[in-house]
Amino acid sequence: MRRRSIFLTGFMGVGKTTIGRILAESLNIEFIDLDEYITAKEKKEIKDIFLENGEAAFRGMEAEAAAEWTGRDAVVATGGGIIESPEAVKSMKEKGYVIYLQASFPILYERIKGDKTRPLTAVGKEALEERFTQRITLYEKADIVLNTENKTPEQVVNDIKTSLADKRKT
Ligand code: S3P
Repeated sequence: MRRRSIFLTGFMGVGKTTIGRILAESLNIEFIDLDEYITAKEKKEIKDIFLENGEAAFRGMEAEAAAEWTGRDAVVATGGGIIESPEAVKSMKEKGYVIYLQASFPILYERIKGDKTRPLTAVGKEALEERFTQRITLYEKADIVLNTENKTPEQVVNDIKTSLADKRKT
């Protein structure tokens, strides 16, 4: 089957949802935010899922949601930790393209510090940076890696479309 869905990955605060919405609109396909999808499906906020079910359970929910959305004509903004689930990565790549949106930790930290809706920000700056560093090699397994620094969301969308067009030729 031809790969269809476009999964945006990257650390919290990189702009997956903002960029995803613009990309979906310009491609005239559906947009889905996987965190919102899971919240609606589980009828529970992400922070409460972490609190009551735990992070491992949340990763399982992400993998399930990724399997549901792969192979569809959709842009999917994923949660920043989805790449920690090998099952989710397998599903995404099977029938979709995985795009890693990059930015450096200091830029991301300024955007996410103090955000109470993101349970992982509560661990403090150092622990969060460690998470970020540990994830880099997982993020870099994406089909396409794009730096977002000093670019508007529209510029990133153009970069994604160009890279996808190149990929689809190969
Ligand atoms: C997480 C990122 C969040 C959300 C959850 C866990 C992570 O999504 O899925 O709080 O592990 O990095 P965003 O990247 O959209 O903030």
